[in-house]
Amino acid sequence: MEPRELDELSAATAISTLIGLLLSAAAGAFLAILVLPHWLPALAGSLQGPAPKAYWYLSRASGLVAYGLLWLSMVLGLMITGRIARLWPGGPMAFELHQHAALLSLAFSLFHALILLGDRYISFTPLRLFLPFASVDYRPFWVGWGQLGWYLLALVGLSFYVRRWIGHATWRRIHYLSFGIFLMITAHGLMSGTDAGKMGVRVMYEIAGGTVLGLLLYRMVISVFANRRIAELRK
Ligand code: HEM
Repeated sequence: MEPRELDELSAATAISTLIGLLLSAAAGAFLAILVLPHWLPALAGSLQGPAPKAYWYLSRASGLVAYGLLWLSMVLGLMITGRIARLWPGGPMAFELHQHAALLSLAFSLFHALILLGDRYISFTPLRLFLPFASVDYRPFWVGWGQLGWYLLALVGLSFYVRRWIGHATWRRIHYLSFGIFLMITAHGLMSGTDAGKMGVRVMYEIAGGTVLGLLLYRMVISVFANRRIAELRK
């Protein structure tokens, strides 16, 4: 899609819906921490006691879902700029899916972080949870990349809503952060995630990284050819 066409598209999700989404993710995490041990006594062994594991399982599962959504958003974004989306599923549809996937990734990763407040092994406090590199008990460096990545993801997600005011060039510059975010979160998942040692999860990271890199290279190649053609036409 051309910059002009992009400018004509508004944010796919209303800001009130986005706020609702983030509040639901936060409420879901707190509900799970506070209410589940009382509502589901059969699960109490896994939720209470000196070493409850359910919060850790929920965090790992939601982290992997958030990563999958981030990957989907990256792939759709690169399909739009690489003009593959014109063939399928169509520019405007791809743009909407691209935005929705990014915002859902933001909500799932908020849940992924907040639910860790119930975990006794890492013993996060709200401050340590959201202050990058402040996780004292567990791999502060690699968890820090996830924390930093979350703020940058929020910045990119919110930039959809202010594009008209900040202008296309600034929006695009902010949007380029996505590549850094994807790298940071991939390193975060690989180096701090318990599941990274599993064969299936490793293959998932390899496929995710490989597809994003492949589409990025394709996009760079076609933009070099497009620039050459423009230069030739101007001669
Ligand atoms: C405040 C922000 C964040 C905090 C505090 C945080 C914290 C953590 C921690 C402590 C782990 C290790 C869990 C384990 O034992 O396996 C982890 C893993 C992971 N995180 Fe995050 N994270 C944050 C942001 C994100 C974001 C934004 C994403 C994705 C969009 C993400 C995706 C993942 C993934 C995929 C794993 C690996 C899960 C596994 O191996 O099972 N995290 N995170």
